[in-house]
Amino acid sequence: MKTTLNIALPKGRLGEKVYSMFEKAGFPCPEIKENSRKLIFENEELAIRYFWVKPSDVAIYVERAAADIGVAGKDILLEYSPDVYELLDLKTGICKMAVAAKKEFRDNPKKTLKVATKFTNIAKNYYDTLGRDIDIIHLNGSIEIAPILNLSDVIVDIVETGTTLKENGLEVKESIVDISARLIANKASYKFKNEKIDALVKGLGKILEENSND
Ligand code: PRP
Repeated sequence: MKTTLNIALPKGRLGEKVYSMFEKAGFPCPEIKENSRKLIFENEELAIRYFWVKPSDVAIYVERAAADIGVAGKDILLEYSPDVYELLDLKTGICKMAVAAKKEFRDNPKKTLKVATKFTNIAKNYYDTLGRDIDIIHLNGSIEIAPILNLSDVIVDIVETGTTLKENGLEVKESIVDISARLIANKASYKFKNEKIDALVKGLGKILEENSND
């Protein structure tokens, strides 16, 4: 019997992009393109199974071995430090984690800085290294509103095109770290399903190389 490789992909635009890389790498599952509400797809012949999961949940599935491998943003890996292997930078889903604030904002180092973010650990670590005293305000989304309503002085959030900041009168004040999608593996799966995972890593590596030569 073939052992099935379980792959968790982030639902949405990034996931679709990543799936087409997996397809080109020799891991197709045509049913996935049928645009249904289904969340699990299997290619029995190749013994692979894909699931669409919420992007921020991929690492949990992989860490707990519900998926053998998956694709997660570096932001999630830095924020939650899941106990998984990071195998490959897929060079897609590229954005950065940054500190942003109203244009006119000037930091007063004598005052505790109020920071609104979804990424509490990333923000804490960043300001720890600067030795800056902060008050974290954890929000779940639409973070850009916080400085406008004076809920916070700054935000720590993902910036991709910069449009959201611009349209809300905010600007990047400091860049924290570059983010992109990473291929991750469960540690036990990596050992026991190594041949298949290695074949995928090699296939994806080739595609990345071709893309970089374009
Ligand atoms: C993310 C991020 C910013 C936006 C940045 O939000 O939190 O709000 O994308 O993209 P841009 O620089 O291209 O404008 P997301 O859409 O993930 O929703 P959220 O409000 O839940 O964070």
